[in-house]
Amino acid sequence: MPASVAASALAVEHSRIRELAEVAMTMNGVLKLYFGESNLPTPEYIKRAAQKAMADGFTFYTENAGLPSTRQAIARYYEELQGVRLDPAGEIVVTASGVQALNVGIRCALDPGDEAIVLTPAWPNGSAIVQMANALVRQVPHVLCGGRYEIDFDAIEAAITPRTRLLLYTSPSNPLGWVATEADQDRLLELARRRDLWLLADEVYDRLYYPDLPPKSKPPDRVFAPSILRKATREDAVMVVQSFSKTWCMTGWRVGWMVARKDLAARATMLNEFIVSHAPSFGQRAGETALLWGEMALREMMIRLRANRDLCLAALSKMPGVTTPKPEGAFYLFPKIEGLTDSFGFCKKLLLDTSVGLAPGVAFGAGGEGSVRICYAAEREILEQAMVRLGDFLKSR
Ligand SMILES: Cc1ncc(COP(=O)(O)O)c(C=O)c1O
Repeated sequence: MPASVAASALAVEHSRIRELAEVAMTMNGVLKLYFGESNLPTPEYIKRAAQKAMADGFTFYTENAGLPSTRQAIARYYEELQGVRLDPAGEIVVTASGVQALNVGIRCALDPGDEAIVLTPAWPNGSAIVQMANALVRQVPHVLCGGRYEIDFDAIEAAITPRTRLLLYTSPSNPLGWVATEADQDRLLELARRRDLWLLADEVYDRLYYPDLPPKSKPPDRVFAPSILRKATREDAVMVVQSFSKTWCMTGWRVGWMVARKDLAARATMLNEFIVSHAPSFGQRAGETALLWGEMALREMMIRLRANRDLCLAALSKMPGVTTPKPEGAFYLFPKIEGLTDSFGFCKKLLLDTSVGLAPGVAFGAGGEGSVRICYAAEREILEQAMVRLGDFLKSR
């Protein structure tokens, strides 16, 4: 028998966002709203910090858990922003991106044959990584109640089996823009403690948050969605995944981090040796600078994102048969289109006919079919054109 690709590798489902993007990449002039990244380049001060780090000799291997100075910078950031004290030596692991933090965190929580509950619709990578760990995914969709998504706690309880070891949720959510309330966080923690589960919170969008402020009030200097780390003790089986990608426009840099209970963080550090060893050395130094000096650029980006969100919401509200819950965070809209049963086919036709590239809701797992995801971190003119073309396309269906 010729050697074949392992059945467990073949069982991992491909990303349907990528499938759509591959069609778009063969076309010219596409309005690209399918990927989850800002069109803004990395701010200059961060690029300069990386150049300086290279000149200063940060071109060698670092510790598996990341440079001590980077871990200290992350600990300081949590203390100042979230009021949470972390031990930089034991509870923080710098990773080569958020997705690598998810990989190593999930690998440390699951044995082959274990089960993980993933709250969906969600970025597909969490479920795929569970499959890559030879474990089983049970997706539990959020439910829409009165225009706002909520966690279906009864469905979570019903999905737990004796093999369940992990509960993964994303807040702020990609693609929903939903943000866990304090009450949600309390209940998730209580459930994880009672059922002996690891609770993995993907918080990569925590700084892209739009709190409802009283009219004419001044927004606080530093806006953030409160982390689960504020509620959890350091003994809780809790992991938080983070990234420099979204907040500081550093998607191509591949630097992120994980906060976890000490025993898991130590194992993740050790496994890092065999996965990527560590995040790029000069990227880690640049990340320290981003944490220190990023607030001004972030504030400007958030003004733009809020305006983009509102522009798209207003346009979508005029399209018949389209319902769009108002996102509280991240940079996505997830409109539900009446009667839509094949979101991939819809997005492909929209792309081919109008050159508007959206991500199909089906890509985001249970509860996603029937919707499409719009990433609004693009130029205003692109969004305006995309909304006109989407509206016309819907009318012509
Ligand atoms: C919910 C979520 N988590 C994690 C990531 C990973 O980001 P990165 O690997 O670029 O750090 C993404 C990227 O789109 C995301 O949407």
